[in-house]
Amino acid sequence: MKSNTLDIKLGQLLSSLSLALDIAENRYFGHSRRTAYIAYTIAKEMELNEEEIVNTYYASLIHDIGMAGQMSKYSVTEIHFNDVLKKDHCSLGGEVVSKLPLSSDIIDYILYHHEEWDGSGVYGLRGDDIPLPAQIIHLADYFELFFLRKYEEVGQNLELKSVKEWINTYKNKMFNEEICDTFLSIVERDKFWFDLQPQNIRGALNIIEPDKNTTIDIYDLKRISQAFSILIDSKSPFTYEHSQGIAKITNKFASYLGYNPLMVQKLEIAANLHDIGKLDVPNSILEKPGKLSEKEFQIIKAHPYYTKLILKQVEGIEDIAEWAGNHHEKLNGKGYPEKLDYRSITKEDQVIALADIYQALTEDRPYRRGMKPKSAIDIMMGMAKKNYIDYNLLLDFKKIVL
Ligand SMILES: [Fe+2]
Ligand SMILES: [Fe+2]
Ligand SMILES: [Fe+2]
Ligand SMILES: [Fe+2]
Repeated sequence: MKSNTLDIKLGQLLSSLSLALDIAENRYFGHSRRTAYIAYTIAKEMELNEEEIVNTYYASLIHDIGMAGQMSKYSVTEIHFNDVLKKDHCSLGGEVVSKLPLSSDIIDYILYHHEEWDGSGVYGLRGDDIPLPAQIIHLADYFELFFLRKYEEVGQNLELKSVKEWINTYKNKMFNEEICDTFLSIVERDKFWFDLQPQNIRGALNIIEPDKNTTIDIYDLKRISQAFSILIDSKSPFTYEHSQGIAKITNKFASYLGYNPLMVQKLEIAANLHDIGKLDVPNSILEKPGKLSEKEFQIIKAHPYYTKLILKQVEGIEDIAEWAGNHHEKLNGKGYPEKLDYRSITKEDQVIALADIYQALTEDRPYRRGMKPKSAIDIMMGMAKKNYIDYNLLLDFKKIVL
């Protein structure tokens, strides 16, 4: 491994980030992954070229990325029945993806995943003017959301007859004929239905995962983490610059501590992603002005758990997942969610934790101004005395912020 490269499977990374999107507030669990499976299967069956198949897969994993962040407050149904919101999540999605080190085709697929074959979609593209992979994702998306899921909700037995009826109803209106016909032959296979079951979908995706090891360098990973930090921060006005602020502090602090350049970048990536699990926490809890109930606090406490769960799915960034997921642990063993203590909390965990606490204290919130650096450090000194955080590390931290 060269000093600035990481061997990461890009598909695995996108799939883990899609998990973050799927657990998000107001979202349907498994939607991204099942849409990706269906879209991939159609693309393969239609014999698109290898690159298009892979890009269809990548794009469908994150096709609704524009629904996270500032659009979290709307439900999936609200977004799909309102043309403005439909267009907004497409254009926001395209914008986020344009910041990622992905092929520009993928941006188009995401931008146009709600175009209709008959031209009645949000951008008014018609027929073959819509990129074929975007058309495929469109069908996969709608089939997952408005057929499969509806069926499961009422617990009915799925009949092939109604599947076919559904496809035929929208043929030549929403979806092109060739895609529909291909799909009609796919749904005949038992394997297709087995793979889509919640207990199988993850394994099924692992099998189709494009096996070429896309080596992305550390700067690419950082760009991905930055795009996600903007999404995470924009979820609530309470946190509009939280992760991005922590990333800046972490960079400065890690450099001061003498970490090598690769480690500095990795720590900054951990900072960008440390609260990715917060996509799961409802804004009503994140923004609650008063004291949280026991139950609400329990929901808050799940966010670093999800952060680690999401990031641990990607081979090659296990260390980043640890640092990001341990930011609410305390040296005295009274933190969450694992109740780790000084014996296993690492210096890197503490670098992120200190930056997180400092940023939270000093950032403006809609209902209060941020604290002055000196007052924040005073509070942190109190925390160090209670053995929440490392006193010696805090003395170093103080030097970079005061
Ligand atoms: Fe969508
Ligand atoms: Fe979708
Ligand atoms: Fe947090
Ligand atoms: Fe945080």
